Amino acid sequence: MKQVILLLAAIAVVGLVGCTKTDNYTPAATASGEDIFNLNCTKCHKPNTDGSVMLLSAAVANKDAIIKKVQTGSMSMAAFPNITGEPADRLAEYVLANSKTK
Ligand code: HEC
Repeated sequence: MKQVILLLAAIAVVGLVGCTKTDNYTPAATASGEDIFNLNCTKCHKPNTDGSVMLLSAAVANKDAIIKKVQTGSMSMAAFPNITGEPADRLAEYVLANSKTK
């Protein structure tokens, strides 16, 4: 019986990890941060009623952390490994400029 429970737990863990999807979207070299955000992020991050696009926790409210988050994703957020270089910079700048920090 114990083994059955362990097996079920293992399946549940694999199932959860499997939720992290990789999005292979690759931005055009000239894409603006706003374009990239509207195309990829508003699916999940709906703009707030005051017009700000996100509410960032202090730990994530800097360019490097935002770029890392976008590239690696999380359990519930897709990873965008192809958003890199200048488009990634522009996306992070857009998010920072249009977000509030909690
Ligand atoms: C599939 C849905 C989904 C998509 C698409 C998505 N996100 Fe997320 N994102 C989430 C969820 C859910 C969280 C909160 C949980 C977490 O931190 O992992 C989150 C968290 C974040 C955070 C951290 C916020 C904080 O304060 O901790 C940032 C920054 C972020 N997303 C930026 C983006 C950007 C930029 C894009 C577009 C390239 C994007 N996300 C696309 C679902 C998504």
